[in-house]
Parts: sequence; C-alpha cells; structure tokens
Amino acid sequence: MFNEPHLRSLPGSAAAPATAMRPLRVGMIGIGTVGGGTWAVLQRNQTLIAARAGRGIEIVAVAARNLERAAAVLQDAPGVELTRDPLRVATHPEVDVLVEVAGGTGPALEWVLAAIAHGKHVVTANKALLAVHGQTVFAAAQRQGVAVAYEGAVAVSLPIIKALREGLTANRIEWVAGIINGTSNFILTRMREDGVDFAAALAEAQALGYAEADPAFDVDGVDAAHKASLLAANAFGMPVRFDQAQVEGIRTLQALDVECARQLGFRVKLLGIARRQAEGVELRVHPAFVPAQHLLAQVDGSMNAVMVKGDASGVTMYYGAGAGAEPTASAVIADLVDVARLPAGTVAAQQRVPHLGFHPHAVDEQLAVLPRAAVHTRHYLRVPVHQAPQIEAVGAWLTAQQVPVQRMELANEKTLPACGTPQVLVLTDAVRQATVDLAVHALAAHPAVAGPVVALRVEMLEG
Ligand code: HSE
Repeated sequence: MFNEPHLRSLPGSAAAPATAMRPLRVGMIGIGTVGGGTWAVLQRNQTLIAARAGRGIEIVAVAARNLERAAAVLQDAPGVELTRDPLRVATHPEVDVLVEVAGGTGPALEWVLAAIAHGKHVVTANKALLAVHGQTVFAAAQRQGVAVAYEGAVAVSLPIIKALREGLTANRIEWVAGIINGTSNFILTRMREDGVDFAAALAEAQALGYAEADPAFDVDGVDAAHKASLLAANAFGMPVRFDQAQVEGIRTLQALDVECARQLGFRVKLLGIARRQAEGVELRVHPAFVPAQHLLAQVDGSMNAVMVKGDASGVTMYYGAGAGAEPTASAVIADLVDVARLPAGTVAAQQRVPHLGFHPHAVDEQLAVLPRAAVHTRHYLRVPVHQAPQIEAVGAWLTAQQVPVQRMELANEKTLPACGTPQVLVLTDAVRQATVDLAVHALAAHPAVAGPVVALRVEMLEG
C-alpha cells in the first residue's frame, strides 16, 4: 500500500525534487469550475500525483477574465503568473503544456493552435472544440510531434478515452453506447421519478451547475453528439464526424411517453450511439426506450455511463460522474500525468498513443456515417385513435406498410389517465428508419388516427 510518508521519500515527488526531473510546467486558460477544480486537486494530491507521474506538475501561468477572482481561487500562490491574455499563456516560454478549460470553439482554437505551433502539448476538456475542429487540431499536433489529450472532454470522470485508445486495442469494436450528457439524464430522471415538467427540471439542473453555458447544447443533444463523435473516431478509426451525426434532443419529449415507457417496462434515456455496420457507421444521439432492467436504465441523475462491445472483450461498462469541478479535474490531471511521462522534447508519432486511437495513416477517411434512413432499430409508436376498436385497423395498416409489429396495447383513460383519446401503443421489431418514417408520415392521414403519432427508438443494447 502507498502511504504518504513513503511517497514523500520518492525521488520525483513534488516534495523531494532535488534529484528529480524538473516539474512539468502547466499554463492554464480558464480558472472557473474546471480550472479551479484542477488547481485544488493538483494542490491536494501533489505528492501522490508526482509519484505517479515521475515528476511534479506545477501550474506556472493562468489566463483569466477576472484576475481578482482568479487570485482568490489560486490563493495568491507565488510563482503563478496571472494574465488576461490567453495567447500569452499559450505561447509562454516557461510552459510545457497548455490546459485549455475555457470552452467554446472560436478563440479556443486559436489558443490551442498557437500552443501547438510553439511546441507545447495540449490538454483540453473542450468537446465542442474537438468535435468541430478536431481534424485541424490533431493534424497540427501530429506535425509538431506534440500530444493533444482530452479525457475530460467525454464523460469526465470515467476514463473512456483511455479505455478505447489503450485498454481495448485488441478488439474490433462493434458498438459504443451511453448516457453522455448529465444534464439531460438529470432532467429525464426528474421527469420519471417525480413527474416534474421539462422546464422545472432544466432549471434545477442549471442551478446545480450541470448545464452548458448554452443549455440548448445539453437538451438538444449537441453536447452528447460532440462526445459521441469522439467516441466513434476512437472506436472505429474514422475521422471526427460530428457534422454527420444524427442529433435529436429531449426538448419535445412528452410526459405521456415517459409514463408509457414505464408501463411497457422501459425507461427513456438520451443515448449517444456509435455502431459499426457492414456499410458504414451509425452515429446518432436521441432519446430512446431502454429496458427497465438494463444496466443503462439504472444510471440516474447527472451520472454518465458508457458501454462498449468488443469482439474479444464482450461488453464492458464504465460509470461515473459526467460533470463537476473535481470529476473533470480527475480527467484533466490524468492527461497531465500522461504528458509528464512522455520522453523529453517532441515525441515521434510511433512512440505516442495516437490522438484518436489509430495511427493517422490507418484512419479510414472513407468510412461513412450512415444516413438516418439506413439506421435499423426497434421502435415505439404511440398512435392516438378516435375509438378503442381501431387498434386492429392500426395494426393491420402498419403490417401492410412493412412495419413489423411485435406487441400492441391499447391505453385509455383508465390505464393512462393523462391520455385524452385512446392510444395504441406499438413496439416493433428492428426495421429500417426509412420504413418507420414513411409509415408515421402516412398514418397522419389514416381515418382512425386522432392526432400526431409519436415515434421513439427502442434500444435493447444486448451483448
Ligand atoms: N453539460 C455537460 C453535461 C457537462 O451535462 O454532461 C459535462 O460535459
């Protein structure tokens, strides 16, 4: 067992640096929630971290908008240069590695590229930056021989990037699926458990600090799609294809469907899914019915979980906090430790874990994201009808439209008090999305149908 007295005697620990390698010098842009958490954990665990890294890790420069607030977080630490100029930190002669935890995609790209151009490694928790500009950032880093590490960008506390890039390298990955937006999972949990409406649950999530500055990114699935596109690249050896992801959020999800899910034995979760098919990769984010007994259905509140199906490993699962100061700091510092362990100077490509898990020459630029129409999965349909006996008509009509009906139930005011008119609840077998889309569109004109048809995907996520 490690204990503190033992660690203090280790060469290379922050407390005994005399004969050790010099510390890794960090410049940080942003000292808000994540930056403050990173500072706090680095201070609290510095001896342990140095023992693991083989040398100390020291923050030497910080860029912040509000210097007074930054000084308060840093407790006026001597030796830390404070500035309002992020480029000063990105290009600082004393800095070995830039930690970018300010967020956003515009200025952050400039800072990160400037740091790379100056031969600095980069650690970032900025999923939007890498989802949108990842190809540019990784190509620049590859040319310069520096690392860009981003464990904090995806489901912060769980080391899923490390799992995909290193732990599971023997596997042909079949699919990656998970709950990768804590805010939307918190909202869905509150809607299911306490019946609160969407707006009230979102306000709670914001008060707890889970939501992005623009909560639309959380509730419209964009944040999860940023993360899913990074997972897909690492899983399948494809470029980051955020621009081709199919993205739906939870804003229009009705309480009635959350209740129907419960009655049918499911829970609604916002899933990010990347699945390898013969013709390409499904890359999609959307609310889905998940069997109530499934492990992912048990993931509640702001927690995240990711499952990976590898051909050799089988299904593995990773679970933990998906947001928050110290859970994100945990990932940021793990990346810093990886950087601290790199050989001095720039690192030849063959010595390094590739940025996206596959060496750049092996990335399959042709591997396409499948269009929505080609996705093949099960569905839940809720069809409002004028009268209960019309369940048979709906079933026959769906079958005629090539929609494979697996189960049908009629819900009425007795079984589903908020439903108004009777509702035909349908679970299908796996079917092409194009077939379901056509059927749902055409159902609107069916004389038995009394209102808009709701269609949600059903994901069984079996091993
Ligand atoms: N807004 C994000 C979430 C934070 O809710 O998951 C972490 O990426």
